Amino acid sequence: MNKGNNGLDRRNFLKLGLLTTASVLSSNSLKAAEKPSEKLPLKQYVAKKFDHLLGGTLKDISDNQLKAHFKLYEGYITKINELETRIKNFKIDSPDTINYRGWHMDQTSMLNGAVLHELYFANLGATDKEPQKLLKKMIDRDFGTVQNFVGHLKAVGKLSHGWSLAALNYRTGKICVYGLERHNLNVPVMTHPILVLDVYEHAYMIDYGTDRGKYLDAFVANLNWKPVEERLESALAIPFGESVTA
Ligand SMILES: [Fe+2]
Repeated sequence: MNKGNNGLDRRNFLKLGLLTTASVLSSNSLKAAEKPSEKLPLKQYVAKKFDHLLGGTLKDISDNQLKAHFKLYEGYITKINELETRIKNFKIDSPDTINYRGWHMDQTSMLNGAVLHELYFANLGATDKEPQKLLKKMIDRDFGTVQNFVGHLKAVGKLSHGWSLAALNYRTGKICVYGLERHNLNVPVMTHPILVLDVYEHAYMIDYGTDRGKYLDAFVANLNWKPVEERLESALAIPFGESVTA
């Protein structure tokens, strides 16, 4: 099968008029990968600040709700730093394998808990209230309409215990919605998350009690599509290689 530079089926890409965009993105990505030393690796995770969401920026999501949520997120940052320090200092010939195993069980939970919250807070905000350009085209291709896409995101959010997220699937080249029961449970591999919705009760209990439906409406009303578009572009810039089956 004839594939484009990023591995998507070339005919489908041409149909959408996306080939040029994806080629440029892929080229930029390869250039960046040639200079991995330009960004030094972090010694530790550092909590990001999302204070720009406070003070009435969001509609129907209160500052009290957000502040409590920020505090919980910062706890994940503290915990993942502690855990990874313990893991790094572990002597692999130590007989204490029970703790070592437990740290690794918690590691993916704390790491995903930190990163998923960052993606969630970052896709809230007052700008870009509609999907644009490439994102809009791919949503229309994979879901028919934006309304249908958002409907799936909310339906998964209503039924899942942890997260509803949309991701680019590197096997199919399509956007797909996934439900996570926990931070580190049901996490799909070979995908790149582009839109993240927190449906843990702590995300809405202060404002909405047990009424998750109203919270889901508020989330969609406060959705900032700009970072979603940027994440999709980043995801498409990664060469898909042979993993794509479409
Ligand atoms: Fe949360």
